[in-house]
Amino acid sequence: MTPTFAHRMDRVVPNAIGELLALGADPSIISFGGGYPDPTLFPAEALAQVFDDVIRAPGGQAMQYAPSDGLPLLREQVAELMTADGTPCTAADVLILQGSQQGLDFSARMMVDPGDVIVTEDPTFLGGRIAFDPSEPVYAPIPMDQDGMRMDVLQQVLETTPRVKMIYTIPEFQNPTGVTLSLARRRRLIELANAHNVIVLEDTPYRQIRFSGETLPTLKSLDTQGRVIHLGSFSKVLVPGLRVGWAVASPALLGKMALLKLANDTQTSTLNMAATSLYLDRHDLAAHVAILRAAYARKKAVMLDAMRRHFPQDVTVTDPEGGLFTWATFREGFDATAFMRDVALPEARVAYVPGASFHPVTPRANTARFNYSAQPEARIEEGIAALGAALKRHA
Ligand SMILES: Cc1ncc(COP(=O)(O)O)c(C=O)c1O
Repeated sequence: MTPTFAHRMDRVVPNAIGELLALGADPSIISFGGGYPDPTLFPAEALAQVFDDVIRAPGGQAMQYAPSDGLPLLREQVAELMTADGTPCTAADVLILQGSQQGLDFSARMMVDPGDVIVTEDPTFLGGRIAFDPSEPVYAPIPMDQDGMRMDVLQQVLETTPRVKMIYTIPEFQNPTGVTLSLARRRRLIELANAHNVIVLEDTPYRQIRFSGETLPTLKSLDTQGRVIHLGSFSKVLVPGLRVGWAVASPALLGKMALLKLANDTQTSTLNMAATSLYLDRHDLAAHVAILRAAYARKKAVMLDAMRRHFPQDVTVTDPEGGLFTWATFREGFDATAFMRDVALPEARVAYVPGASFHPVTPRANTARFNYSAQPEARIEEGIAALGAALKRHA
């Protein structure tokens, strides 16, 4: 039998890059391809204790069903974290999600009909497109520079493109480029969204992992008309396996999203919500994040220093103020996908993510994303040295 799938499944297809990255899973390969946090920094003992305690607590509440918008105490704690971070809100403004990825899916489902336009950064997070594709959008990618999405191009696109519904942005240490949206551009983005009546989807999983520079206001805190959907996550500041994230949005938007949450999975795991909540109650999250920031700052420095010493002179890389990634641009004519398949994997035994997959419309061949959080510092040096030597051999 040949299944007759719904139209929305036309673009739900395996990603070609997935196959290439699967090769990078070989333990003899040094992979800078994933986006994983460093597992040696997971607060395993603290989490073991809180899971043990919530399970043993009388009444079994942590093993019971919970409200679909999340455990009330956790919503309050997230509102406190958001408020302390300069985005005042209350528990009523918070919806607990199964990771911020779920918020990407829900936002598109809520706002986007087939043929509607989603503006993205170019390049953008591949998982964003994977979440948006079943809603059958048209993408309008906006080029970036060192200050993030270019507002002159965004203005032009908003003025000339019908049916723009949503602007998707990762303002801090963007995945994949590591670039941060400047304060002036944050203000301009909100002005433009207001002028053109467009929803802004603000995705901030790396926001807390800042190494240098000033913390900038969230787009949500600059939102004057209740049009920003802010997504946050415990994946990078605690552990991704919890699958606990959140949305903060106006009552009109959050109410609809809560209905999708109910339809989709009833609620986020009560156990994981209760354990997260108890962790926040007992431990100093900011102190843990300070450890992460110091460790990732060091790893970034090791990677950029190794790239400067080992890569050919004509390769440029971004210097992120936080997050997990740097973005390399090779000489014109270089094909990072072919090089990974033919040289980096078999010869240098190194993996990265070729940049082509991050461009929603027109792939650029000569770029790549490198993750510095997952590998130990010595492996970063070893892998970058091997890749640099291969790049020079095949220049
Ligand atoms: C930009 C971006 N958004 C969302 C996510 C999904 O994160 P979560 O684990 O909170 O679902 C990721 C994960 O790497 C990401 O890089």
